[in-house]
Amino acid sequence: MTRSVNAEIEEAFYENFLKFFKLAEERRRWDIDRDIPWKQVNPESSDLTADIVQSFSAVEMFLPDYTSKIMELVRRSRGRAWFQANWGYEESKHSLVLEEWLLRSGKRTEEQVKEFERTLLGAEWKLPFETARQMIIYTMIQELATGLNYTNLRRRAEAEGDGALAGLLKWVSADESSHYNFFRRGVKVYLSREPEETIADIKYVFSQFAMPAQALIPDWDKRGEMIEAAGIYTPKMYLQKIYRPILEDLGITRQQLKMAGLPANVADQIADRADEKEADEKQAARAQTVSVPGDPAPLAPPGRRLIRSTP
Ligand SMILES: [Fe+2]
Ligand SMILES: [Fe+2]
Repeated sequence: MTRSVNAEIEEAFYENFLKFFKLAEERRRWDIDRDIPWKQVNPESSDLTADIVQSFSAVEMFLPDYTSKIMELVRRSRGRAWFQANWGYEESKHSLVLEEWLLRSGKRTEEQVKEFERTLLGAEWKLPFETARQMIIYTMIQELATGLNYTNLRRRAEAEGDGALAGLLKWVSADESSHYNFFRRGVKVYLSREPEETIADIKYVFSQFAMPAQALIPDWDKRGEMIEAAGIYTPKMYLQKIYRPILEDLGITRQQLKMAGLPANVADQIADRADEKEADEKQAARAQTVSVPGDPAPLAPPGRRLIRSTP
């Protein structure tokens, strides 16, 4: 029984990976030199923007830990391991392109970038959760939060008239949002096959969730405050744009929402909305069925009877 559930889960992961990869190859491949409007870089962008860019590039610098440790955990799952390889490639471009902006905008020299990297070398990211199921929940949350950070930074870049930064953040956010969707689909696979265990894990991971930067980057307290003050990422946003939307996105039942840790009134709001949406969709489907006209009568030239070409 256990083996067959695992086989089903693996099959669904692999299918999800193939879809993810096909779409990535078709629509989401981008080139650091060719696809960023570097001519629109604005050397007058604020120093605060540059500090935030550098903070985000620092988080992306722990790629060797993220890839090696997660890969070790999921190596028996082809769907997740092959995804992880592709994920590593996409994430590797994020730190490169952010650093490229720091240099091209003149906000940092090469020496300053290298010096900053040296300050990061001492830390090592460790898996925050032990099981593959808990880790897919963690990465789902983390990718959506990262995407939100980049989207808000893009708005800031647009307001400061930096087309290069805004342009590169568009590509990076699109990557993060595809990562979120892959992980979210994976969590849904677990939910369909192991609902109780998955709900318990969702509750546990949310209760322990912290972004990786907090443990890794020197002075993160200061940097975090700066990011919050700039309106890029705040605790309120976490609740409104990460925590609740994810639980809503997973399409779980009213009871599961409560078991996952949502306060009863919020769980009811979400479940009521889902019920209303379902009722609306059913009504729309019924209306469509009723209003579909019957087959039109065969056309024939006036005054002549229709001659059928087939016997
Ligand atoms: Fe990234
Ligand atoms: Fe990502």
